[in-house]
Amino acid sequence: MIKEVKNGTLYFDGCNTLELAEKYGTPLYVMSETAIVEKCKEIRSSFLQKYKKTRAAYAAKAFLTLSMCKIIEREGLCIDVVSGGELYTAIKANFPPEKIEFNGNNKTIDEIKLAVDYNIGRIIVDGLDELSLIESVCKEKGKKMNVLYRITPGVKSDSHDYIVTGKKDSKFGIPLDDEIIFPAVEQAVKSEYVKFMGFHYHVGSQLHDNASHLKALETSLKLIKDTKDKYGYVTPEINIGGGFGIKYTDADNKKPYSYFLDPMMERIEKFSKDLNIERPEVVIEPGRSIVGEAGITLYTVGTIKNIPGIRKYVSVDGGMTDNIRPALYQAKYEGVAANKADEPKTDTVTICGKCCESGDVLIRDAEVAPLKRGDIFAIFSTGAYGYTMASNYNKNPFPATVLVKDGESRIIVKRQSYDDLIKNEI
Ligand code: LLP
Repeated sequence: MIKEVKNGTLYFDGCNTLELAEKYGTPLYVMSETAIVEKCKEIRSSFLQKYKKTRAAYAAKAFLTLSMCKIIEREGLCIDVVSGGELYTAIKANFPPEKIEFNGNNKTIDEIKLAVDYNIGRIIVDGLDELSLIESVCKEKGKKMNVLYRITPGVKSDSHDYIVTGKKDSKFGIPLDDEIIFPAVEQAVKSEYVKFMGFHYHVGSQLHDNASHLKALETSLKLIKDTKDKYGYVTPEINIGGGFGIKYTDADNKKPYSYFLDPMMERIEKFSKDLNIERPEVVIEPGRSIVGEAGITLYTVGTIKNIPGIRKYVSVDGGMTDNIRPALYQAKYEGVAANKADEPKTDTVTICGKCCESGDVLIRDAEVAPLKRGDIFAIFSTGAYGYTMASNYNKNPFPATVLVKDGESRIIVKRQSYDDLIKNEI
């Protein structure tokens, strides 16, 4: 059990959360190594070991630090980066470059050069002139890169509009109109500077239904067939993205990886047999599902404001600066007072942050044990897109991040100091 209550205190991966708050201060991101490793294990057993010719590239945007790169490498996964900064982090962690895949809808020429210099495994091309840019860099440097095309499969998945990426009206991917996609494919197939590996799609994030994945798969399979028919070229790989949902609250009907992957693998196997080709290598890019539930955030309760007949605001010492998701996507979270985790939840309050924004609310109408200043409040499932989307709004420093495992804790990201906040200012 990653989360436990002992004598009224919340424990996380064997660590007393009150002691963590005391030792490292709050707000504090706490990541459970055991939980991350368990998810990697599930990916191995239900995908990498179950099916030959498969890869899983962890989507670093969900949570990336040098230590996280080490865990991902040790667990046998590849890594998917989307910026020069993420790429640099992976390289600095000595992540094997050939296991790095580079996504992103507007890679700069400098980022492309970095990717080529580091000899990374794949560039996922997401723009019509991007291939020409890559070709020119490869020509200059005498290299040949593996590339895939990210396509816009034109499916609408069931998630918040901001994290739905596969619909036709999207800044991501290459549109599938014949006059756009086929000249692009032809250029890639004939290029002497790149090896065309195939197609990539990502339909959206935090999904509990496999329908959009399966629909997008059909579109990609048709492209594989068209590419073979038109150019006699069999693409050796297909990347089916990430998006596998996690449990934030009881409303989330989380599914195992196999729910998404088994039907897709079955379909790809059958398609390959029918087309009489070798089944392409299948790649997934899970982010949130690996780290989301592995993280909690600890806060200290401060000002409590009861507006009779309206609402009780309980302010904590973090907020939208360490977790923008409720403000940005109306994302729902659950939490508990870590020092009274077994007390009856008899109060309904709104947990808000300390930023100068009315929208800085972390949980609306949370049912909690009666809270008072100094209590430690834990919010669950904050491991994905928390630290990586943090900001310094109101000059609030980034919290520290602590990695916990079987009762041991170690700091993996130091808390920012006030000096850190002004160190680039002149
Ligand atoms: N691959 C690609 C190409 C992606 O664009 C994404 C996420 C992933 C993989 C990983 O998706 P995941 O398995 O984590 O769902 N900030 C938002 C999520 C944005 C996701 C963008 N792309 C949030 O906090 O919900």
